[in-house]
Amino acid sequence: MGVRTATPPGRRLHPGHLRHQRDGSRVDAVRVPVIAAGGIGDARGIAAAFALGAAAVQLGTAYLFTPEATTAAVHRAALREARDEATAITNVFTGRPARGLLNRLMREVGPLSELPPAFPLAANAPAALRAKAEPAGSGDFQPLWCGQAGAFGRELPAGELTRRLAEETLARLARR
Ligand SMILES: Cc1cc2nc3c(=O)[nH]c(=O)nc-3n(C[C@H](O)[C@H](O)[C@H](O)COP(=O)(O)O)c2cc1C
Repeated sequence: MGVRTATPPGRRLHPGHLRHQRDGSRVDAVRVPVIAAGGIGDARGIAAAFALGAAAVQLGTAYLFTPEATTAAVHRAALREARDEATAITNVFTGRPARGLLNRLMREVGPLSELPPAFPLAANAPAALRAKAEPAGSGDFQPLWCGQAGAFGRELPAGELTRRLAEETLARLARR
């Protein structure tokens, strides 16, 4: 069973959230284990989530950098340049909101718009543009999914990344 808190997906945990969560006791308000997700990309974020009572953390964007991920070449190139302020929530690619790196379609049609057909039909609209642009090395018309922890990305195999994050988090927690 999944339970979502009010923190929007893709938002980085920052001191404001932490204070709010401490005051709001979101973890205490539910009877299920809480998995923290969104904007967590390094040991500091993972340790903060555990300190707030999370039972686990879920990282998505961090694994887009791994060789195991089927991340498109233009997407990988854009992720390497990713900065927090370069993302926005958009519905122009699928008809549903999700966070990605700002690109031409998002800027010119959205990032949020009433024009895209409902999910999943919206994906068909830019398909022809993507088919032309992507082989030419342009990510203008495809989703470049990225949360707000993209800048923490490390190009490591998934297993190695997981081990390093675990070791770094345990070392950080042991210092407390
Ligand atoms: C490429 C990609 C695709 C995702 N697709 C979905 C999805 O279809 N449904 C969903 O609920 N979450 C989806 N997520 C969100 C992840 O499950 C996870 O909650 C999120 O990536 C955590 O935030 P982070 O990317 O900042 O680490 C996706 C994430 C990425 C990076």
